[in-house]
Amino acid sequence: MNEPLVLGIETSCDETGIGIVRGTQLLANEVASSMDEHIRFGGVIPEIAARAHLEAFTPTLRKALDTAGVELRDVDAIAVTAGPGLAGALMVGLSAAKGLALAAGKPLYGVNHLVAHVAVALVEDDDDGSPLAPSTAALLVSGGHTEILRVGSLTDDMELLGSTIDDAAGEAYDKTARLLGLGYPGGPAIDAAARQGDPRAFRFPRGLTMPKFEGTAQSPGKHRHNWSFSGLKTAVARAAEQFEAQGLPVPVADLAASFQEAVVDVLTAKAVRACREHGLTSLLLGGGVAANSRLRELLAERCADAGIDLTVPPIPLCTDNGAMVAALGAQLVSAGAQASSLEIPADSSLPVDQILR
Ligand code: KG4
Ligand code: ZN
Repeated sequence: MNEPLVLGIETSCDETGIGIVRGTQLLANEVASSMDEHIRFGGVIPEIAARAHLEAFTPTLRKALDTAGVELRDVDAIAVTAGPGLAGALMVGLSAAKGLALAAGKPLYGVNHLVAHVAVALVEDDDDGSPLAPSTAALLVSGGHTEILRVGSLTDDMELLGSTIDDAAGEAYDKTARLLGLGYPGGPAIDAAARQGDPRAFRFPRGLTMPKFEGTAQSPGKHRHNWSFSGLKTAVARAAEQFEAQGLPVPVADLAASFQEAVVDVLTAKAVRACREHGLTSLLLGGGVAANSRLRELLAERCADAGIDLTVPPIPLCTDNGAMVAALGAQLVSAGAQASSLEIPADSSLPVDQILR
């Protein structure tokens, strides 16, 4: 069979993403974001996100088809995020995908959003993308997830090696930015403020790095490959309060830089160690926090030192989008996976090892 032409639909959070790929070749990636509507609340409001998906869906689909120069009847399959994500938001994309699949007589693939973040690393603009290396790991860092995964096969072998036990990395950025008065979304704001500050001004905690949590390579502790970020925002808040109590200006740039260094240090150290201890020599970085300048820099440095081959997709493919869903759909079609039933539900807590519903 020729490379499958797949339409991908993503509505798990605040981005309405429609992407089209042929195999690993990217043909269209249209994203409409409802971010502006959430700013005054300081975070994504699920009901607003769901309504925005409804409004954005048809125009975004039209744009993607036009950009790719195809019509719905041309596609071989429709892939859609079935979970994890916000239930109401997922339902909009899933219902739309089912409607299109039924109306156009196309097979439906309800896929895992986290695995799609990994699959996007295969995609390239012009010709064929690169195949997945045999010993690959993926570090996913976004507003909703922070995970390190072993990727045996995108279609049937994903294993969770470690994850955050509380806040996601992006959530830590968003919460900390809010308490420093830097606005939403916090990631880009802290990234920018940190450039003017000293990352060594404050020594903030690196969560779950004590020996009792980590153990040793021979006898790993329960949280050896896990992260915790919830204590960090409290530490930043306490530090800021001490300045306020003395009537001194809060050193926002130093706090931002020191916070960022704590997040990025522990993220990269644990990811690289998980790769080493599982014999994984390639690492893919994905998720919105992958846009962070210091994370990209330090991870590249530490991967180079450890002999790990790092792939970082372009930023528009790191944040939520439909092309990643289409990319995973194309892998599933090529592998001969059975299509999903039109009855599948949205699953807000779909586990990462469940690739296809
Ligand atoms: O993957 P994404 O677009 O949506 C989710 O699935 O969550 O990630 C959004 C998250 C937000 O928490 C945002 O603050 C963070 O990514 N982010 C950043 C940067 N740009 C976006 N975090 C740190 N540095 C950045 N430059
Ligand atoms: Zn995501």
